[in-house]
Amino acid sequence: MRQYEIAVIPGDGIGKEVVPAATDVLDAIAEVHGGISFKYTSFPWSCDYYEQHGKMMPDDGLRTLQNFEAIFLGAVGDPQRVPDHVSLWGLLIKIRREFEQVINIRPAKYFRGLASPLLKPNDFDLLVVRENSEGEYSEIGGRIHKGADEIAIQNAVFTRKGTERAIRYAFELAQKRRGHVTSATKSNGIVYSMPFWDEVFKDVSKEYPDVKTTATHIDALSAFFVTKPHVFDVVVASNLFGDILTDIGAAIMGSIGIAPAANINLNGKFPSMFEPVHGSAPDIAGQGIANPIGQIWTAKMMLDHLGHQEMGQHLLNVVEDVTHSGVKTGDIGGTATTQEVTQEILKRLKR
Ligand code: NAD
Ligand code: IPM
Ligand code: MN
Repeated sequence: MRQYEIAVIPGDGIGKEVVPAATDVLDAIAEVHGGISFKYTSFPWSCDYYEQHGKMMPDDGLRTLQNFEAIFLGAVGDPQRVPDHVSLWGLLIKIRREFEQVINIRPAKYFRGLASPLLKPNDFDLLVVRENSEGEYSEIGGRIHKGADEIAIQNAVFTRKGTERAIRYAFELAQKRRGHVTSATKSNGIVYSMPFWDEVFKDVSKEYPDVKTTATHIDALSAFFVTKPHVFDVVVASNLFGDILTDIGAAIMGSIGIAPAANINLNGKFPSMFEPVHGSAPDIAGQGIANPIGQIWTAKMMLDHLGHQEMGQHLLNVVEDVTHSGVKTGDIGGTATTQEVTQEILKRLKR
């Protein structure tokens, strides 16, 4: 029996509701297939923790996490109590950065049983590779003065290493998929970083002559996600562009509540982290109605990462069966609770 040591951080809001649902489902799929099991260690790091301790996690928090094989996180953020830039940079982004989780993979596809808002819900299946360590998300800049003379400067950082790494990762994935990479650019409006991004994309593409390439400005690309998502295979984007595109990817599937994500460490020095695309949803937290599918599909990505693709595929098939059967939460047009959807998934898994 192979037992995996998983650090669990439910976080805030609906994170605390969907994470237990997903770990129950993980345990069930492991039991059905046999051979593996999960040992979870849960950490209460969150905005509650911040209110008690003045920080989002203990000073040795990262050292503690380092010993785990993967991190399974719900969502972070409670902006009524703690400013988002404090809570997120004190926990989620800190882990992504310090653990060199330089790639964020976020799939979006036509999901069986879901009413997509697309006029023609074409059978789409795309993967966004989001640069996850630099770009527009930087701590370089500053603020001076107050009032009419106030100035805020935020510098974007694009390194050749970071840019090449994300783009190369996209090409590698495309070779295993349908052989097409689309680059999200904005070299018409952003005059240094985006022409650089385009050059690196061209350079890297020469190493992959079998892969078809397209570069599309992020504004048009956002519209194409809505009007013709079926034309995309792998899409590679900078940190911010990838962030925004993947909420659109979630929306065209039918809900932000189902979209999964994986923060991947490539050098093996630190664990990778698995957390859905959505946030803590303060507007519905505590009601038991959050859609658990984003977190459960994220568990599938963790299974894939740990080398259990067959279990992962089985899990996703069952989730799609349940959605198709009509057992759905309110965000996707149903009336079921988080618990009811989870129970139905567990029942079908064990069948
Ligand atoms: P959000 O994703 O939390 O919510 C956006 C909308 O989608 C809300 O109406 C919400 O009810 C709905 N929604 C989200 N997940 C859902 C689910 N599983 N089931 C049903 N409905 C769902 O985004 P937001 O409102 O911009 O952010 C809320 C907080 O979460 C903020 O503090 C933000 O910074 C944080 N956030 C955290 C993460 C993360 O931890 N990975 C990601 C995004 C936002
Ligand atoms: C996400 C989130 C985070 C991001 C926020 C909460 C900092 O939106 O994971 O998509 O922008 O990376
Ligand atoms: Mn986001």
